[in-house]
Amino acid sequence: MNKALTQAIGLTFITAGVSWAYISSDHDYLQSTVPAFDQKEHQPAGAATVARLHTRSYIYPVANMDRFKQLGFWSGLSFFRDPWITSPSSTTDRDGLGPLFITRSCITCHHAGGRGPMSKEGVHVPSSLLLRLGSTIEGINKVDPNYGGQIQPRAINLIHASITSEVQGEAMLDLAYSPVNGQFADSETYQLRMPSYQLVKLSHGPLASDIGLSPRYAPNIYGMGLLDAISESDLLAQEDINDANQDGISARYNRVTNVVTGNKKAIGRFGFKAKHPTLEQQVAAAFVDDIGITNAMFPDENCSDVQLGCQQVSALGYQGEVEIRQKLLNFVNDFSKFISVPPARQLESVIAQRGRAIFYQTGCANCHTPRYVTNSEYDAPELANLTIWPYTDLALHDMGPELSDGVTEFDANGNEWRTPPLWGIGLQRKISGSNNFLHDGRARSINEAILWHGGEAKPAQLGYLLLTKNQRKALLRFIQSI
Ligand code: HEC
Ligand code: HEC
Repeated sequence: MNKALTQAIGLTFITAGVSWAYISSDHDYLQSTVPAFDQKEHQPAGAATVARLHTRSYIYPVANMDRFKQLGFWSGLSFFRDPWITSPSSTTDRDGLGPLFITRSCITCHHAGGRGPMSKEGVHVPSSLLLRLGSTIEGINKVDPNYGGQIQPRAINLIHASITSEVQGEAMLDLAYSPVNGQFADSETYQLRMPSYQLVKLSHGPLASDIGLSPRYAPNIYGMGLLDAISESDLLAQEDINDANQDGISARYNRVTNVVTGNKKAIGRFGFKAKHPTLEQQVAAAFVDDIGITNAMFPDENCSDVQLGCQQVSALGYQGEVEIRQKLLNFVNDFSKFISVPPARQLESVIAQRGRAIFYQTGCANCHTPRYVTNSEYDAPELANLTIWPYTDLALHDMGPELSDGVTEFDANGNEWRTPPLWGIGLQRKISGSNNFLHDGRARSINEAILWHGGEAKPAQLGYLLLTKNQRKALLRFIQSI
């Protein structure tokens, strides 16, 4: 067992969930200091926080936005929500779907601004569970020669004299789970489910031998503008690649390509492995990769050399023109930027406050960084200079082999995932109907999400296993409240 781990927890962990022995009383695992409660925690997005008028949607514009800008926000929603259709059509603003695509609209995956319906077991055409493809060799970035960087399971059906080859959806997914049994230190048992993923009905033969599958369950997308507004220097101040502070955690930022500036070492922030450096790039990539809508940042359809039907259909479009004009794309950018975060709920209850202390004491805050003040120079004044409480460092962490997808994405290896924000997830079930968590939705509750933590987060997970039932309840209540 690694030294930092024993130090952090002060216990010997003999066989997973079966046998426990505490080392000594001078190692109290509940040892990190707990900052005094700040009344500002009630408003996780500061002045931008907005109370929900009804509880079935995350989609509200930030509270401090003027009415004119709000009109743009709601126009953005319409391009996010309404299905795209096959071109040519009577409406050029919303056509251009495909040729290959995953779903017809953003909202299918990001239901109510949250997470979409999670895939069920068995063979199916997935929607919210997106299947990224990448290299299984660490440090090598490449995509599959036949399928590209993502499986698009759907295709448009277009009849035209010049099309001699059918456009085919790329594959279906066979999803299965097997049980993983474990035990808390107080001997209460639990059961997790380990997923396995198999592509079936591949339209162009098997994946290349060095290409692996990385399943990604569509995340919540509220508060993204505020994450975009965190100063790069505040992020980099948390970087600790060689674990100089010896807390067993080596926060590291992904270094990715900014397709606008050409910078190949931009700090990644968005996506489960922080593939995109800016919110604009994330949105533009979603259009082309998920819906097949080309745009100024990504002007080419996703057709590989062997996908002749896809190429033929693309050639029918207006050459030199993209499918979503910049003006309309800007509406969706603003929409994505200004979705607000809900206020905290009953955060000052005795139980939530007890859970808050445990959150700091078990080391959750070492990755789920509670607080920032956003950049005062950020280009949207509504989001600038706000005290926010997102609970993420946006850095990559080795989360251990069980969460690994084995796939490289820029500097991120298979084991590495970006810490997700935790604000508002307590409302997820009520709002979007999904109680699934983690990058692939395998966790069926917040409790299960914590139990899956491994690698650098193993000490925190062991700390969780050692809590009493009431302490666990309190921690979960805190996360439900933030
Ligand atoms: C097929 C499902 C799907 C569709 C359609 C889709 N997304 Fe996503 N979205 C995802 C997944 C999965 C991720 C995580 C991607 C990754 O890990 O790189 C994501 C990530 C994001 C993020 C970043 C979230 C974060 O925490 O970093 C934003 C913002 C976003 N999508 C907006 C959009 C917009 C806008 C559209 C429509 C143009 C869209 N998405 C369409 C599945 C989808
Ligand atoms: C070493 C960094 C690290 C530590 C420490 C850590 N986490 Fe995490 N946490 C992550 C990462 C990275 C993920 C995403 C993993 C994935 O998606 O596979 C995550 C995911 C989660 C999720 C799921 C969120 C979602 O929307 O899917 C919850 C809940 C969570 N952590 C709570 C906690 C709690 C509570 C603790 C303390 C007991 C903790 N974490 C400690 C890095 C950490």
